[in-house]
Amino acid sequence: LSSAAMADLPALEKKDRYKVGFAQTESNNPWRIAETKSFKDTAASCNWDLVYTDAAGSAAKQVSDVDSMIAQGVDVIFLPPREERPLLPAVLRAKAQGVPVFLVDRSVDEKVAKAGRDYVTFLGSNFIEQGAIAANWLIEKTGGKGLILELEGTTGSSPANDRRKGFDDEIAKHPDMKILASQSGDFARDKGRKVTETLLQTYPNADVIYAHNDEMAIGAIQALEAAGRVPGKDVLIVSVDGTRDALQAILDGKMGVTVESSPFFGPLACETMKRYANGETIEPWVRVTDRVFTIENAAKHIDEAY
Ligand code: AHR
Repeated sequence: LSSAAMADLPALEKKDRYKVGFAQTESNNPWRIAETKSFKDTAASCNWDLVYTDAAGSAAKQVSDVDSMIAQGVDVIFLPPREERPLLPAVLRAKAQGVPVFLVDRSVDEKVAKAGRDYVTFLGSNFIEQGAIAANWLIEKTGGKGLILELEGTTGSSPANDRRKGFDDEIAKHPDMKILASQSGDFARDKGRKVTETLLQTYPNADVIYAHNDEMAIGAIQALEAAGRVPGKDVLIVSVDGTRDALQAILDGKMGVTVESSPFFGPLACETMKRYANGETIEPWVRVTDRVFTIENAAKHIDEAY
């Protein structure tokens, strides 16, 4: 990316204190709560006056939250777009009003919006790789055999789209593996449980569940137990995030693997914003590297989990 492209974006003045917007998507899971805490903790250490909003699971509310931040005159906005498309107009309005936007944890549709042109950068994990790591753990564990139910995240969100692609592409290379059904549980525990309950009735032969996040995986474990199946034995569970409940499920033998997706974006947000204010050209994707939690290391990491 050339600095000329960056020059297209609103500049950020160098100053001691910033008014910073963080437009959260929802707060119904430990991952979101940990992310919000990371931003709130960073507000103190990075000299931010934080304007925090919670869209309560509605992309439409998140759009109006961003608009109201622009109206309140924030210096920058950190935004995890709940879904890839609906937030685009708000991102463009922020730019037009001179407010630089940093996408954080989720991205927008890269076919229509570009880092360095429409927003500064995307801070986040490689979701395609997370899905591929989960698939490859499973392939190795089962010798390439399995009848899989997939619990997708929020429809239209970048982690749901990419975790599906990363996983499905690996599985497709193995003729004895089949994805029986793939359905959204909206990244929520309760929906994950309900969707699993229904899918188990249609596909009682399933022996693997791949959940796009730990909350849905925990919901799936509850549904399996209610149906008299033994998670971790009758049905292998693979997932993404690395929450405390997931690490406990691994230690209890109920879950096989969770690929980490770190929610601790505050310090990286502070650092990247300062680099931008210093006039540095920011790379289009500030990548977060993730670990993998299995029975080999879950005990070591559970105390630091959220
Ligand atoms: O965008 C990251 C995903 O969103 C996390 O995996 C999930 O738990 C959250 O809701």
